[in-house]
Amino acid sequence: MILSIESSCDDSSIAITEIETKKLVFHKKISQELQHSVYGGVVPELAARLHIEALPKILEECILYFDKLKAIAVTNAPGLSVTLTEGVTMAKALSISLHLPLIAVNHLKGHIYSLFIEKETQFPCTILLVSGGHTQLIEATSFIDMKIIGSTIDDSFGESFDKVSKMLHLGYPGGPIVQEKALKGDNTAYDFPIPLRQSPNIEFSYSGLKNAVRMAIEKEENNNNLNEQTIANICASFQFTAIAHIIMKLKKYFKTNPPTSFAIVGGASANIELRTTIEDLCKKYDAKLYLSSLEFCSDNAAMIGRVAVEQYLVNDFVSYKEIDIQSRIKEKNF
Ligand code: KG4
Ligand code: ZN
Repeated sequence: MILSIESSCDDSSIAITEIETKKLVFHKKISQELQHSVYGGVVPELAARLHIEALPKILEECILYFDKLKAIAVTNAPGLSVTLTEGVTMAKALSISLHLPLIAVNHLKGHIYSLFIEKETQFPCTILLVSGGHTQLIEATSFIDMKIIGSTIDDSFGESFDKVSKMLHLGYPGGPIVQEKALKGDNTAYDFPIPLRQSPNIEFSYSGLKNAVRMAIEKEENNNNLNEQTIANICASFQFTAIAHIIMKLKKYFKTNPPTSFAIVGGASANIELRTTIEDLCKKYDAKLYLSSLEFCSDNAAMIGRVAVEQYLVNDFVSYKEIDIQSRIKEKNF
């Protein structure tokens, strides 16, 4: 079995995965959403301190598996440096004390493999990764061949929900809150411009939309009209535009690269509107849509453990002296 640790942002999580069957044996996660909510976003130092409390608590529950372990895996990139450090430090200590090899896992690959915790692997696959830190379109043909086709040039999809929620003082994480508010709103109430509409490039942008939402909020505030209904309308119109931007770019890309299999991964892939809109789009292309269950959309160690199994099978280990922490990954292929 492999013990995997995830601490790239505000979720402390540990999982145990059986190597031969690739089955998840144990998985626990302690989220810090409540503690960060008052600040309207993740406070890295606070997140690091909370990992120090949470990770050992979860680890205690794993002790009964210790004699079955063959490796220790940990997310080492990308993420917040101070929080990655907590997971990596624990992984190093376990690797040294239990005399087990160490596996460094790319968090983005983890999100992709969240698809394969409960299902067989499916390649080739065109993948939309939408999280708090990333918005990427990826072509994956195998475990070792994943190419980023397009990324965001500023904010990410999930981040834009967090920022809209913060501007409306609704709390963190913004995705589920804004989605909920949007249910009671009119998505045509505000005519927010769809980002990069004229650009032929496959890339994403959310800062312009965020500013358009900010201006709408300020206008309603100045008119003393920021009430439950206008908030719902802003959320609905924002969500509609944020998704329309993705659909527009996907349609552009699909013109020359029609998908056979398509997947949405990452914390923001829990968005119902995004799921149903992409489901409809996939039907038009006769492409099969893959989604991970809601439990594995947001950050978790189960997805890290699933990737670690693939790395274990090809002896992809790293020395505890050499494991590095990267807040960003610059490569276009991973
Ligand atoms: O993957 P994740 O747990 O962490 C990162 O790797 O960033 O994603 C968290 C992000 C947050 O920005 C959160 O607001 C967003 O995913 N999110 C959503 C929804 N649920 C979570 N965004 C839109 N709609 C949702 N239903
Ligand atoms: Zn993530």
